[in-house]
Amino acid sequence: MQPRILTVSSANMDLNMRVKEAPVKGQTVFGKSYSYVPGGKGANSASAIAKLGAESYFCTSLGNDDNGKALLTLYNRLGIRTEYIKTDSGLPTGLATVTVEDDGANRITVFSGANLSVSPEIAENAFYGVKPDAVFCHFEIPFETVVHISHICHNNGVPMFIDAGPADSALNLSFLSPVFVFSPNETETEIFTGICPDSEKSCYEAVKKLRSLVSAEYYVIKLGKRGAAVSDGDFLEFVPAFEVPVKDTTAAGDSFTAALTLEYVRSKDIIRSCRFGNAVAAVTVSRMGAAESIPTADELSAFLCNKGIVI
Ligand code: ATP
Ligand code: RIB
Repeated sequence: MQPRILTVSSANMDLNMRVKEAPVKGQTVFGKSYSYVPGGKGANSASAIAKLGAESYFCTSLGNDDNGKALLTLYNRLGIRTEYIKTDSGLPTGLATVTVEDDGANRITVFSGANLSVSPEIAENAFYGVKPDAVFCHFEIPFETVVHISHICHNNGVPMFIDAGPADSALNLSFLSPVFVFSPNETETEIFTGICPDSEKSCYEAVKKLRSLVSAEYYVIKLGKRGAAVSDGDFLEFVPAFEVPVKDTTAAGDSFTAALTLEYVRSKDIIRSCRFGNAVAAVTVSRMGAAESIPTADELSAFLCNKGIVI
């Protein structure tokens, strides 16, 4: 039986704009092309989990508008379970502007809209309805909801995986119950700890600081093209990324952490799960877009086979 994973998180429509270089303050630049693509950290992760073959339940909130309808249609097409998606909050569907430079790097601004109505109550209802093997969250919905679901997971012995984006130093992480994996990227690590994880020593220091803020079995720092560093507070191991031509890094982190969650539920091996996350994210960065750039299980197998990679 495939794992049953509940993602309680955000959904956005992305306005993806390609530019040579993003504008600096006060500057106007010309875009090369644009498209509206499905995004949102939660939706990207729920899509990854469905595409990779698990039972993907998504608890979020969409506006009763064209973007919301288009996103819901896509989720159903991907086989995401949508019965815990709210559509009557009276708020518009979340919207993100994603500016992607020639080297694939992005800058993102999010208008939360309906994501603000992902409440502790709907999350709790989804949890008891789904009875998941694992719960996955980001910080793109109200923090009180993430805190509430962490208590429920803790009380019910269900592992919780947190992708710590977007980060805000004002979030009081100590309100969270102990979680299984806490995974910030480089920028988020620096925002929460004040330490830039650019060396082995600074990764150790950052994990030490993270441990004082939030209790987790594992801390997994996503390091972009360097891969990821995983630590339980004692050991720290670097798991290198796979080399690929980069087109657009949007959803790299979302697909990495979702794939890690899925593989951990299947194998109970954290290093293997990070390798699996790196492989899924490598395919994601080699394609344009957010949710749609994430590979299916078959596409991932073809990538691994081509590269001669054994996870
Ligand atoms: P996002 O763009 O979704 O916000 P992020 O900043 O949260 O991503 P990153 O640390 O940039 O997360 O990347 C997440 C994972 O994606 C990395 O751990 C790695 O596995 C993979 N990845 C990112 N950039 C590259 C790259 N240039 N080449 C290969 N893999 C990459
Ligand atoms: O992590 C990438 C995502 O962040 C984008 O799809 C955008 O919608 C924002 O949520």
